[in-house]
Amino acid sequence: MSLVVTIDGPAGAGKSTVARRLARRLGYRLLDTGAIYRAVALGALRAGVPLDDEPRLAAIASGLDIDFAFEGDVNHVRVGGEDVTAAIRTPEASQAASRVSAWPAVRAALLELQRRLGGQGGVVVEGRDTGTVVFPDAGAKFFLTASDEERARRRQEELEAAGKEVSFAATLAEIRERDSRDASRDVAPMRAAADAVLVDSSALTLDQVIERIEAEVRRRGA
Ligand code: DC
Repeated sequence: MSLVVTIDGPAGAGKSTVARRLARRLGYRLLDTGAIYRAVALGALRAGVPLDDEPRLAAIASGLDIDFAFEGDVNHVRVGGEDVTAAIRTPEASQAASRVSAWPAVRAALLELQRRLGGQGGVVVEGRDTGTVVFPDAGAKFFLTASDEERARRRQEELEAAGKEVSFAATLAEIRERDSRDASRDVAPMRAAADAVLVDSSALTLDQVIERIEAEVRRRGA
């Protein structure tokens, strides 16, 4: 059976890695919805569109020409044919994505796109509202979280691996700011769906998280 599997949760909980490896193991496609919000944010930053100009942000979202392609283990993101995989991951793009995503018109413009990309199932979708709003009928839903400190530690490691030196305190503050904005916005705030399985990865290895989630997905018929 080809399910839609949703993995939601805050920044740094391990969603991206878990979703990517799970998709590989199930032979499913991967849909990174955060990358879509990031692409809109990058477009706005580059065009000098203020991050509170909802109509212009929504126009960028409506016209977004985005595609994803795996090369090795990296899910490359292209916008209008340009590879923006690295450009959408800077701390500036992260904050801008969180701000842009709070606007109802932006979310509305991206809803159909996400449903289209999610297609007929056989897909792992990761984000903040994929189990609550985008795919409320998904066959398996997870809410993956971890303590703030653990998430900041992981994010700092990730940035360092990419050659960017950042302080732990700044990373922790950045994560908390983004969480509180993502969870408190009026439209589609980050929250666990009532029927989502909660997974706290603070004290689990990546392998343990993936095993747990994969077992649950297979139990549901994938
Ligand atoms: O998962 P991420 O860090 O790449 O997401 C970047 C931002 O996009 C995040 O701070 C909030 C927003 N987002 C969202 O509002 N809804 C989603 N389904 C995915 C991401």
